[in-house]
Amino acid sequence: MDNRKIGIFDSGLGGLTVMKELMELMPKESVVYFGDTGRIPYGTKSEDTVVKYTRSDINFLNTFPLKTIVAACGTASSIALPRLKDQYDIPMLGVTAAASREAARVTRNGRVGVIGTAATIRSGAYRALLEQENPAIQTVSVACPMFVPLVEYGYAETEVAKMIAADYLKSIIDSGADTLILGCTHYPLLHKVIQSVVGDTVVLVNPGACVAREIREKLDKNNMLTDKKDKDQYQFYVSDDPAEFVRLGSTFLEHPINGLISRVDIEKYM
Ligand code: DGL
Repeated sequence: MDNRKIGIFDSGLGGLTVMKELMELMPKESVVYFGDTGRIPYGTKSEDTVVKYTRSDINFLNTFPLKTIVAACGTASSIALPRLKDQYDIPMLGVTAAASREAARVTRNGRVGVIGTAATIRSGAYRALLEQENPAIQTVSVACPMFVPLVEYGYAETEVAKMIAADYLKSIIDSGADTLILGCTHYPLLHKVIQSVVGDTVVLVNPGACVAREIREKLDKNNMLTDKKDKDQYQFYVSDDPAEFVRLGSTFLEHPINGLISRVDIEKYM
């Protein structure tokens, strides 16, 4: 048994959709969440910048006694985690690798769609990982940059969202993909709209759920699941004003954000 916490980071509050999956699957585990709300978005930045920001996010989390770190951010997982994870002793898992394994497992016709931020899609990380899982898989990827603001401004379940989704997802529908990876933290909140556009036969893969399952399996196998709930079970840190994070965060977490929340000067961890 291991009573240390799980660390999780994201470019902002989107990673709370991943934390929700962890909380549901492992209700006893304690979690430290860092959201880089002062430097969001990562999805429009260059690879160098995403690596630099991710390094400081990990350095900050590494100041806590943690048993593992989860990269919840699709962009950081795709671009920075493969470059950084061997530089630290602590085990780290990102959403991209976990979702690729799941998509390769569930596709029946070998055609997989991937949607994510511009930086995630440009990186080609999903394509490479899917090919590694099964070289016969054909990947169709599309950047959906409007999805993040649609969710953050409360337009997730509207006609506007449906119209934009129909336009973005056209090439994925045309490819005949039977599996679609929702490769960005915000996209699970567009699940209904995306499913209605691509049709019921397409399996939507939620990377947060995949990474939560993999973490639980790993902890269980190594006898590292906790056996007790902490008094301060959930702690949140952000790099900008916590008020906005608290206001919007509960929609992403599907839980009120209460407990410890503090602001950190993330530049100190570069
Ligand atoms: N969290 C980011 C991701 O999953 C989306 C928001 C951003 O661009 O930073 O890629």
